Amino acid sequence: MTSPTASALPASIEATLDLLAAGRYVADRSLATAIFLALKLRRPLFLEGEAGVGKTEIAKVLSQTLGRDLLRLQCYEGLDASAALYEWNYARQMLEIRLAEAAHEGDKNKLAADIFSERFLIKRPLLQALEPNPRGAPVLLIDELDRTDEPFEAFLLEILSDFQATIPEIGVVKAAEPPIVVITSNRTREIHDAIKRRCYYYWVDYPNAQRELEILRTKVPIASRDLAEEVVAFVQKLRKRDLFKLPGVAETIDWADALIQLDQTSLNPEMVDNSLGALLKYQDDIAKIRGTEAAQILEEIRLEISAARVQAASRA
Ligand SMILES: Nc1ncnc2c1ncn2[C@@H]1O[C@H](COP(=O)(O)OP(=O)(O)OP(=O)(O)O)[C@@H](O)[C@H]1O
Ligand SMILES: [Mg+2]
Repeated sequence: MTSPTASALPASIEATLDLLAAGRYVADRSLATAIFLALKLRRPLFLEGEAGVGKTEIAKVLSQTLGRDLLRLQCYEGLDASAALYEWNYARQMLEIRLAEAAHEGDKNKLAADIFSERFLIKRPLLQALEPNPRGAPVLLIDELDRTDEPFEAFLLEILSDFQATIPEIGVVKAAEPPIVVITSNRTREIHDAIKRRCYYYWVDYPNAQRELEILRTKVPIASRDLAEEVVAFVQKLRKRDLFKLPGVAETIDWADALIQLDQTSLNPEMVDNSLGALLKYQDDIAKIRGTEAAQILEEIRLEISAARVQAASRA
């Protein structure tokens, strides 16, 4: 049962697009289709893509717009069941034993049953996602799964197969309604097929110029139209260069923010050179672009933008 505070799942691709727009997420139809189907079919959504393209944000926006809790499992090397599912609160259990001893409570069986009850259980995101929730099935974000190792994937597979977990001392916890699962990966390694097979897969690509401009207008509305256009055109050109790490949408937003802080209303070579650190995070990349290369890109985008304006004016 879904509570009145939680919104119903979108009933169409259009409704999914509207939902994302309500969370200030600019999506194209193919992404909205993937999200709609994952929600409709109750399948985990597996989002893969480069850094900063808006994968994690999708889970956040779904939780916010659907009025569901967001349970986030940040993955890292060595992540195990005790950090992902549950662990016993040993310190509290020890204290309880000491208190029982001090009070001369002799019933050992009762004490054992007591210290392995829910009161002493530390619930981690995966277990929380299986529990009944008054706000409806929560959004479970399993972020950056590629950072974990294979044993954890196998363990996760079990949970994702039947949305249940067994705690030997307590019993089986089974979700009445499966959580809305969003898994992200930066593809630093391939995720096992068995996981992918259970999910709806979507590759989140860099946006094209039009969509990136829309994102910038949504996320940094105080940027002037001219500045936003130039920033997007510059970043789009940078992504075609041979760099160690291409800028994501996150960097485009950061750069526009930085330029506004510097009171810029359009790009100039000096300012570009001095603010490249918002876009590029490796010294080799910065050294490659700073100076001649940046000036050349600026020149190219100026010509392209004015040509596009002339064309638009002649059509009007
Ligand atoms: N389509 C979009 N609409 C609105 N905002 C977006 C969009 N894509 C990216 N963003 C913004 O870009 C920033 C980065 O997004 P996010 O953190 O989700 O990226 P990510 O793909 O998870 O990156 P990483 O792999 O580094 O974790 C966020 O501020 C997000 O709001
Ligand atoms: Mg992320």
